[in-house]
Amino acid sequence: MTESANNGETAFAATAAPRPTTENPWGVTHDPSVLGPTQRPKPTFPEPPPVGDHGPARVVAMCNQKGGVGKTTTTINLGAALAEYGRKVLLVDFDPQGALSVGLGINPLQLDLTVYNLLMERSVEVEDVLLKTNVDGMDLIPSNIDLSAAEVQLVSEVAREQMLYRVLRPVLNDYDVVLIDCQPSLGLLTVNALTASDGVVVPLECEFFALRGVALLMDTISKVQERLNEKLEIEGLLATMYDSRTLHAREVLARVVEAFGDKVFHTVINRTVRFPDATVAGEPITRFDPSSGGANAYRELAKEVLARWPVRGLAE
Ligand SMILES: Nc1ncnc2c1ncn2[C@@H]1O[C@H](COP(=O)(O)OP(=O)(O)OP(=O)(O)O)[C@@H](O)[C@H]1O
Ligand SMILES: [Mg+2]
Repeated sequence: MTESANNGETAFAATAAPRPTTENPWGVTHDPSVLGPTQRPKPTFPEPPPVGDHGPARVVAMCNQKGGVGKTTTTINLGAALAEYGRKVLLVDFDPQGALSVGLGINPLQLDLTVYNLLMERSVEVEDVLLKTNVDGMDLIPSNIDLSAAEVQLVSEVAREQMLYRVLRPVLNDYDVVLIDCQPSLGLLTVNALTASDGVVVPLECEFFALRGVALLMDTISKVQERLNEKLEIEGLLATMYDSRTLHAREVLARVVEAFGDKVFHTVINRTVRFPDATVAGEPITRFDPSSGGANAYRELAKEVLARWPVRGLAE
C-alpha cells in the first residue's frame, strides 16, 4: 500500500474540503454541487493503487444484532470487490447459520473442520480450516451449526473474549483485509469478533426500524473499546436495501445521516433481487453479474473503505 505522508490521518477525513495532495494521498475529490443519496456532496473515490506486498491485515467485523440487514451480503461482496482491487482477503464466517459459507457455494454440513474446531481445539491450526473461494485472492474460514455450542463452551475459557483474536493472529500478515461476518446477536461470539477487529461496519436496512437497537450496539462497541480492545473504531454505517423511489427509504436514510453524520458511508446499496439470486448461485455479485448496479455499488464501497483507512506504515 502507498506510504505517502498523511500524518496518520485517514484520507477520508478530508471529506469537508479538498486538501493538499500530501494530506490526501488517495486523491479523493469533492464537487459540492453533486449530492449523493445521503444528501451530502459525494466524494469521488479514486481507483485504489495496487499493493506490493501483503499484510498486516485490517480486521473488520460486520455487526448488527438485527437480523437480515445485509451483514453476510456485505461481507461476501465487499470482500470480493477488495479482492478485485488486488487485496488479499480472508472472510471469517462467525455465524452458526453458515450463510457466508453457503453464499460462497460451500455446504457447511459437509465440513469436518470449521471455525468452531479452530476456537475450541488447540491442535487445530488456522491453515487446517482455511478454504479457497471461487474468487481469486479471497479465502474463507467456514462455519456451521457446531459454532452455536461455542457460545456456551467459551464462557468457562480463560480470556474467553480473545479467543478469535488468538486464532487469527498467526495469519494476519498474509492478508490485507479480514472481514468477520457476525451473527445477529450481541453475545460472546460477537464480542470475540469485536475484540479481534480494528473496525466495525454496521449495515442498516433502510426501513422504519433501522435505528432500533443501534444504541445498544454502539454501547457494546464502546464497552469493548474500553475494556478489551482500545483500537476498535466504527468504520462506518452502511445503508443497504435502499430504494430511492420510495419516500420512506429516503426519510430513513436522512434520519440515519442526521444521527451519525460522517460515520455514514456515502456509498449506499440499492435493493435488487440480484443479491438473493447471487446467493443461490453461491457467488459474489461481482462474479455472478459483474456489470450490475449491485456489483458496482460494492466496488464503490471498497474504494470508500480503502480511502477511509489509515495509510499503512504511518498509522501504527
Ligand atoms: N441490497 C439488497 N437488495 C435485495 N436483497 C438483499 C440485499 N442485501 C441483502 N439482501 C437479501 O436480504 C436477505 C438478508 O441479507 P443477509 O443475509 O446479507 O443479512 P444478514 O444481516 O447477514 O442476516 P442475518 O442477521 O440473518 O445473518 C438475504 O436474502 C439477501 O440476499
Ligand atoms: Mg448473516
